[in-house]
Amino acid sequence: MSESTPTKASDRPAVASSAVRQLRAGMVGMGMIFDETYRPFFEGVFGRGIHDPAFGVCTIDLAAVASRTGRRAEAYRQSAAGRVAPFVSYTGDNSGAELVAGDVDFVCVATPDDRHFDSAMAALKAGRHVLIEKPSVLSLGQLDTITETARSKRLLAKIVYHKLLDPDHKKLRTLVVDGVLRHVNHGYCTLLEPKMISGQQFAEWITGRNPGTYVAVHYIKLIDFTFGGRLKYVTCTGQRGLVGPADGPTWDSTQLRMVYAYDDGREAAFDIHTSWVTPDNFPGYVEQEVQFRFDNGVWNGHSRKRGVELTVEGETPLVRKISMNNHYNGEFVEPWGARSQRGYGVEVLERFAREVAELEFGGPAEERSQRYDRLVALDYNDVAADRQVVATVEAMEAILAAHAAGEPGAMAEINHDAGGLVLWKPGRAEPDVLYRPRV
Ligand SMILES: NC(=O)c1ccc[n+]([C@@H]2O[C@H](COP(=O)([O-])OP(=O)(O)OC[C@H]3O[C@@H](n4cnc5c(N)ncnc54)[C@H](O)[C@@H]3O)[C@@H](O)[C@H]2O)c1
Repeated sequence: MSESTPTKASDRPAVASSAVRQLRAGMVGMGMIFDETYRPFFEGVFGRGIHDPAFGVCTIDLAAVASRTGRRAEAYRQSAAGRVAPFVSYTGDNSGAELVAGDVDFVCVATPDDRHFDSAMAALKAGRHVLIEKPSVLSLGQLDTITETARSKRLLAKIVYHKLLDPDHKKLRTLVVDGVLRHVNHGYCTLLEPKMISGQQFAEWITGRNPGTYVAVHYIKLIDFTFGGRLKYVTCTGQRGLVGPADGPTWDSTQLRMVYAYDDGREAAFDIHTSWVTPDNFPGYVEQEVQFRFDNGVWNGHSRKRGVELTVEGETPLVRKISMNNHYNGEFVEPWGARSQRGYGVEVLERFAREVAELEFGGPAEERSQRYDRLVALDYNDVAADRQVVATVEAMEAILAAHAAGEPGAMAEINHDAGGLVLWKPGRAEPDVLYRPRV
């Protein structure tokens, strides 16, 4: 056996004392993603907690929630009685600030993306660890402020990038890390959301928004994290006319291109196509496909067509989908009889809770600093490792805004002499500087 099985007591990791540790969570935003992933996470750990030899048993309770109206929170309180801890519900525009001032150890931010910054900063200033839904924030300036605040207070500020935990993407990265797939050349990704997202789900805050910031960011991070390299250029265009007026600021679909450079001087280009106007009777909930080409190979992945096709008379594809992603987040009856809801969308939240527990309880207090340094070095989720992703998002937003304002075809350049992120508009001699420090 090649595993290093402990053979004597002194080889085993130290088991923490039997004292039960406790973490109390606050949830800002009680919308779709709360229901899909946070709800099953909190229900899954309720009464069981998490366990690790380093910190022993740690209970995780949903202690407080904040949302605009509180309607979903109240409905959830009724439906989930006995399945989650009793929680306080704050409502209204100031609800996030009230929540972070209460008795919570970490705060999860799942508000619309242009409101992440305020909630995350309020949590950090109140001394709470924070977990932010993707896309983290919309500008490098905001990212700097969050990173500096978290570092100065020695708090964790992490981002939910669940696609990095998708077993297929883990395998892709493993093949790259192991040198089986050599030097990425170029690639494309697509993620198409149903019309109900733009038409119903996000109708309240959709004006001026685009599906690229919302979902291309999953693949921006996958590419950045898996292949490394330095971001050089960003371009983007898109279509309008369905969600809003054809000459307005709200986008139906976007096509983003990123160019990366690598240490050997070679470059790779990646195209990411997204939309939120796919017909609601599409056979899957979303369409997700990637292709990456290497010096010596091709990776083709399709997250929807992983082999299952279901037909139920009168139900598919509207009430139930024909193809489904059972790896992200599925409801199951386990072979041993228990009902569960699990997948990488839930697993990524538990990972964060484990990181907080490891930091606070995973060893002597005087070694917290070393634990902190180790945990912030995890570049799959730390805010400091999100710079090139946020640069791409900020560039995409600026390019689309210029387009909507009558100047299509702009290109963002990263780490130019004039600034870290600059925007070149056709026909202009000087670029607009979006962010001055190096990215
Ligand atoms: N990881 C993923 O795959 C994934 C999927 C969907 C959404 N998301 C992200 O999650 C976030 C939320 O998306 P959603 O689909 O749940 O949106 P949603 O519109 O369904 O819900 C938004 C929630 O935020 C609350 N809210 C809005 N402004 C607030 C404020 N100022 N203070 C407190 N609460 C406020 C609303 O009341 C609502 O409960 C977005 O950033 C989105 O990008 C991630």
